[in-house]
Amino acid sequence: MTSSLLAHVEMAPKDPILGVTETYNADTNPKKVNLGVGVYYDDNGKVPLLQAIRTAELQMAETALPRNYLPIDGMPAYNKAVKEVIFGADSEAVKSNRIVTVQTLGGTGGLKIGADLAKRLYPESQAWISDPSWENHRALLEFAGFKVNAYPYYDAATHGLKFNDMLSCMDQMAPGSLVLLHACCHNPTGVDLSAAQWQEVIEMVKKKNLLPFLDMAYQGFSEGLNEDAHAVRAFTKACPAVLVSSSFSKSMSLYGERVGAFSVVTASAEEAARLLSQVKRVIRTNYSNPSTHGGMAVTKVLTTPELRTQWEQELTQMRERIKTMRRSLVEKIRSHRADFDFNYVANQRGMFSYSGLTKEHVTKLREEFSIYALDSGRICVAALNSTNIDYVSEAIAKVIVR
Ligand code: LMR
Repeated sequence: MTSSLLAHVEMAPKDPILGVTETYNADTNPKKVNLGVGVYYDDNGKVPLLQAIRTAELQMAETALPRNYLPIDGMPAYNKAVKEVIFGADSEAVKSNRIVTVQTLGGTGGLKIGADLAKRLYPESQAWISDPSWENHRALLEFAGFKVNAYPYYDAATHGLKFNDMLSCMDQMAPGSLVLLHACCHNPTGVDLSAAQWQEVIEMVKKKNLLPFLDMAYQGFSEGLNEDAHAVRAFTKACPAVLVSSSFSKSMSLYGERVGAFSVVTASAEEAARLLSQVKRVIRTNYSNPSTHGGMAVTKVLTTPELRTQWEQELTQMRERIKTMRRSLVEKIRSHRADFDFNYVANQRGMFSYSGLTKEHVTKLREEFSIYALDSGRICVAALNSTNIDYVSEAIAKVIVR
């Protein structure tokens, strides 16, 4: 055979998060634990099928709707209900129709639509992400054509924020820069800004005329649905242009259904109509239109009062279980290693903890205990349960000794 046009193609590296799951799946050790990917598991180590979703799906099966194409921007009822979850039903911006919300393929789909849109609107702009950020942010923005820079965020010495450095960096950004911010449950560190710090960031965004893009993949996993939307809502009140991506992968345990949204806050209903027309072009050229099943289930849960209440209760249970696991991990590690202060893990928010484990520790955990974490030291606390927590805390205590 003559040399192929594809002969030069190199093997790409494994994905830093989903690649860990691939290696974990191949591990035959019955004690293996996957603290890599951001997925919530219940105390039995299973991805839950929420009761609210199950009931919605049973109702959907009874009505068995045909599956025509959805509109490019998704189901109108979904978009309306989701907009209210994100921005609040009583928001002035919602009431005056100056927010566009479209159904996307998960939160990553929302980020991709937002990144492509921003690139079309501001081809010369550069993008900024936090240091560190979700492993996929940089690649996603680069694939959309941006030069990607990082602003200071996490302070490893204090397990807190480099807030002043973050603000000074923003003060140097060129007007029109795209600034990606984690609305809550910062991924990977679990360290969030306070309300007062958000206000300072908002002032800086306004002063420098930056384009904020808020990634809210974990709404409901820190303090509650409304509390976790604080940053998004504060930006919406203060800035005439805000991009938001959001997801139900975690909050409704619908990972495989790919149900998310992309929203644009604009200055007026007339501007929103123009933005929607551009967003639709971006969606049409990416994947044409979103899929039906997950979006229908979410809409049913959000718009049926009993299902909505049930979902919020189930979300609260998930959030509280994670917090219990955080405290338990800290106590158990302390019982092995009184000299090692792991207390910061209990104060971090959301599914993740930037554990402080080094790449070397992570390698030892994987090779000697079949415990999988990200090379950065990020662990998914939502994968701990009453069966594996002793094993994990003992293993961590052992690897940090050496
Ligand atoms: C994560 O950070 O692990 C999750 O957001 C899952 C993913 O797609 O990376």
